[in-house]
Amino acid sequence: MKKSLRKAVIAGNWKMNKNRAETKTLISELKPLVKNADCEVIVCVPFTDLETALDAVKGSKIKVGAQNCHFAPSGAFTGEVSADMLKELGVKYVIIGHSERRQYFGETDITVNKRLTAALAQGLKVILCVGELLEQRELGITGEICSMQTKIALTGVDAADLKNIIIAYEPVWAIGTGKTATAEQADEACGIIRSTVASLYGKKAANALTIQYGGSMNPKNAAELLSKENVDGGLIGGASLKAPDFSAIVAAASL
Ligand code: PGA
Repeated sequence: MKKSLRKAVIAGNWKMNKNRAETKTLISELKPLVKNADCEVIVCVPFTDLETALDAVKGSKIKVGAQNCHFAPSGAFTGEVSADMLKELGVKYVIIGHSERRQYFGETDITVNKRLTAALAQGLKVILCVGELLEQRELGITGEICSMQTKIALTGVDAADLKNIIIAYEPVWAIGTGKTATAEQADEACGIIRSTVASLYGKKAANALTIQYGGSMNPKNAAELLSKENVDGGLIGGASLKAPDFSAIVAAASL
């Protein structure tokens, strides 16, 4: 089974942007623009916008995700939100292990694994982010880093749960910098991640897995990146904040 049989998934990661009124506006602008999309379309919004977004997407194919969740169902974890709480809201997706969480909020491979398994246990679909730092790429260890992050994140995950996981390859040096990995670099790293998954769960499971590229994807470079065998979609930051840009990437993934 190859790319042609995998559904492309384009997910917006709004990060810490948009208040509720802006959320309503952006989603109402997006709705007509993505109504003929032949790929999955997800917007991952701040916690405070989740309810607004869930309401705003009604009647469209846009799905709503959160950007993180804690591994405990409840308890003394000030400032955190649990997978159970997301589920109760009606959220279907959650990003786990974004490099900004790893860089600025002390997220480790171990906590990524704990958060991912908690999310799966609540029936959420996870967008798991992995990717190397610039120094690591320069050292020639991109493959090892992506492989290690993938293996640790998936520790204890059953093969049956893989269908609820999307992996996003996000080279940290390309995020929010305007520097995009070349389509070849993205394809190579996504291929390594797929081989890692194959070594853990077998080829068939790995071939069915959606692997996205993320890092300054935009309407200009999306088509080339998405044309690559191992790149099945995109996790989009900056360009997801403007309806015309995000919908252009959705269109590129729908070809
Ligand atoms: P960017 O962000 O598209 O702004 O580089 C991508 C991401 O962080 O997921």
